[in-house]
Amino acid sequence: MNVLMLGAGGREHALAWKIAQSPLLGDFWIAPGSDAIAAHGRCVALDPCDPAAVAVFARDRGIDLAVVGPEAPLAAGVSDALEAAGVAVFGPSAAAARLETSKSFAKEVAAACGAPTAAWARFDDLAPALAHVAAQGAPIVVKADGLAAGKGVTVAATEAEAEAALRAVFAAPGAAAVVEAVLTGEEASLFALCDGERTIAFGSAQDHKRAFDGDLGPNTGGMGAYAPAPVMTPAVEARAMDEIVRPALAEMARRGAPYRGVLFAGLMIENGAPSLIEFNARFGDPETQVLMLRLESDLLPFLHGAAIGELPEAAPVWRDVAAVTVTMAARGYPGAYASGEAIRGVGAAGRIAGVTVFHAGTRRAGAGWVSAGGRVLNVSAVGGSVAEAQARAYRAVDTIRWPGGFCRRDIGWRAVGRP
Ligand code: AMP
Ligand code: GLY
Repeated sequence: MNVLMLGAGGREHALAWKIAQSPLLGDFWIAPGSDAIAAHGRCVALDPCDPAAVAVFARDRGIDLAVVGPEAPLAAGVSDALEAAGVAVFGPSAAAARLETSKSFAKEVAAACGAPTAAWARFDDLAPALAHVAAQGAPIVVKADGLAAGKGVTVAATEAEAEAALRAVFAAPGAAAVVEAVLTGEEASLFALCDGERTIAFGSAQDHKRAFDGDLGPNTGGMGAYAPAPVMTPAVEARAMDEIVRPALAEMARRGAPYRGVLFAGLMIENGAPSLIEFNARFGDPETQVLMLRLESDLLPFLHGAAIGELPEAAPVWRDVAAVTVTMAARGYPGAYASGEAIRGVGAAGRIAGVTVFHAGTRRAGAGWVSAGGRVLNVSAVGGSVAEAQARAYRAVDTIRWPGGFCRRDIGWRAVGRP
């Protein structure tokens, strides 16, 4: 099976690492990929957000399966272009990806199918939004109604904070806002594969979105993740599949936008009851890094099955291990940061038993690596327990010498306690 994957980050490194282990794999192309991903396939300088160019490349190279990593190419319509060119694609159409790209659309679908989620309202203008906040009071959540890379959300503790967030949203021309009630409980990420009709659960994890220890500081793309998470019991997973994921996907099919790919449900769980925070139309980053370390089954039949409308009947098999990934980021991230700094000890870290280092943003420089992004490395490990996996991951982190980098020291704390 000839495969083309789109993307360049830590999620795509983990997917490439797993795909490369498949006995079904023929040619493996990654666009654009990275120096680290090049260990697993051939990287090609192709813009994933140029649907026409991607479709021509896939057809010319006899690609049997295209796998879309990040959300931006989905929003740009890359799946639609590939499908039109007759190439099977893992990743929803732009219309189905609206579950991620429009927060109000996701809320509408949740309402239509009865999925539990926070009470909400959408506003096209500042004045009624401000009046709504004044009427509801704080705490309250303000979101920009578009793709905002995790930066468009404010959980406001005071009305003044909510007002400032709304003014910031409406500073952009044509903006719209979603204002919603605050959900309480513990967050977790659930992944489900869908082939347009059938849906199966495909693992869960808990990530740490805040920059600093104790879940403090600014929201980031993800400073680490671990699985299994104690809060995601089989019972909670089953409820989330039955009450949120399956109804939403059935509603998408009913609306003529059947969903093919992975649906990522961001959940808030309180007393065993899951509520929907948001949907994403792709795998989580860095959740994928721990998911792939735990996946025993061959990944390709699941991706290909979802793409062609024939998901495998059998559930995926997971290794009986815990996995932890620690993000090493450039100091200053998620704000301004330096790039091009030398990072030493990456190879030695990766040789520690149970450790795999995925690269989120690096470049090769001579025999070593330099930083090339905000999130730079996902230092990952498996172990017999979350505690063992965590200890291994931090031993690997401590082998890496990069004065300009930082990481959290408490990834997985809900399972193992505070450091
Ligand atoms: P989102 O981009 O929608 O995932 O939101 C980013 C983060 O904001 C989430 O991971 C939650 O921590 C938080 N958040 C979003 N919506 C809510 C809500 N209704 N109640 C509480 N926290 C929320
Ligand atoms: N880790 C959260 C995300 O991928 O959006």
